[in-house]
Amino acid sequence: MDEQLKLIKEEALSAIAAAETPESLNDIRVNVLGKKGSLTALLKGLRDVAPEDRPAAGQKINDVRGEIEKALADAQDNAQKKEQAARLAVEQIDVTLPAKHHTGGHSHPCTIALREMERIFIGMGYEVVEGPEIEKDYYNFEALNIPANHPAKDEQDTFYINADMLLRTQTSSTQIHEMEKGRIPIRMISPGRVYRADEVDATHSPVFHQVEGLVVDKGITFADLKGTLAEFSRQLFGPETKVRFRPHHFPFTEPSAEMDVSCFKCGGKGCSFCKGEGWIEILGCGMVHPHVLEMSGIDPDEYTGFAFGVGLERIALLKYGIDDMRLIYENDIRFLEQF
Ligand code: FA5
Ligand code: MG
Repeated sequence: MDEQLKLIKEEALSAIAAAETPESLNDIRVNVLGKKGSLTALLKGLRDVAPEDRPAAGQKINDVRGEIEKALADAQDNAQKKEQAARLAVEQIDVTLPAKHHTGGHSHPCTIALREMERIFIGMGYEVVEGPEIEKDYYNFEALNIPANHPAKDEQDTFYINADMLLRTQTSSTQIHEMEKGRIPIRMISPGRVYRADEVDATHSPVFHQVEGLVVDKGITFADLKGTLAEFSRQLFGPETKVRFRPHHFPFTEPSAEMDVSCFKCGGKGCSFCKGEGWIEILGCGMVHPHVLEMSGIDPDEYTGFAFGVGLERIALLKYGIDDMRLIYENDIRFLEQF
């Protein structure tokens, strides 16, 4: 038995010395001290030892057990310390490293310009409404005094879904939806996306945005239109801004005009931004055509109104002095970060 005990002890101690992880130490504990362990088996073998020798033999086994237990506890302790040291080394934080840079996003220049326009018109008592981008031919053309085969249809060629449905070419269709609701007075602006078969260049895109405006009430005159749009321009481009109305033609307004603002870069003297003109065109407008009122169920003898349509991208270009509309759609971070 002494031989066996010596062997078990030597094997256990060298295994403990070689063990590298708490798991392998645990395996050794099970194999030696566990229910079916080698030392436990030896203890059970005491049955075969002569009764008078048993106490001494039992004592020897227990001494070895104590030694192995102590070696295991020490090794366990060591392994844990080693593991912790390794983890700390990996998780070490270098507080002198530069911090990660967080870039906050922000609104697109078109969105900023739109919010600004909405703020100005809401301040004048307007509400903001939306209309559908997929529209009936009737709302986009017919009801706006542009019957089939009217030459004005050519200027706004678009994408047809079928003979009756199309992608709207102008937000003016929202005028008709508002008037058909039959709630007068109307004071609304309606921003949204529009579509035309236009080639892409510095000032055109096949998909762009307009902001429509419509006012209908008793006694509305061209003076209201001029005063409103002049005030809008001053708030958007600065108090020194002057406006100029040039006669124009739209089938759904009569009389019609295009409005220019004095160039806010040069104050009207003429510069490269306004191409030497001193003026920059920003919108189309006019008094709502009596026939348009009538078609939408409003009595033109009782009510009058004015309407206008602004190209939103053009406003953003002007407001921020951007010289090419394509920049607005490319979403290059270096460009967008500037606003
Ligand atoms: C119209 O669309 C009229 N519905 C405006 C109107 C409304 C007149 C109410 C009277 C009463 P026009 O086709 O000119 O008009 O377009 C209006 C504005 O949209 C232009 O001044 C321009 O700023 C912008 N625009 C037109 N085509 C494009 C395009 N392809 N890309 C970007 N902006 C455009
Ligand atoms: Mg025009």
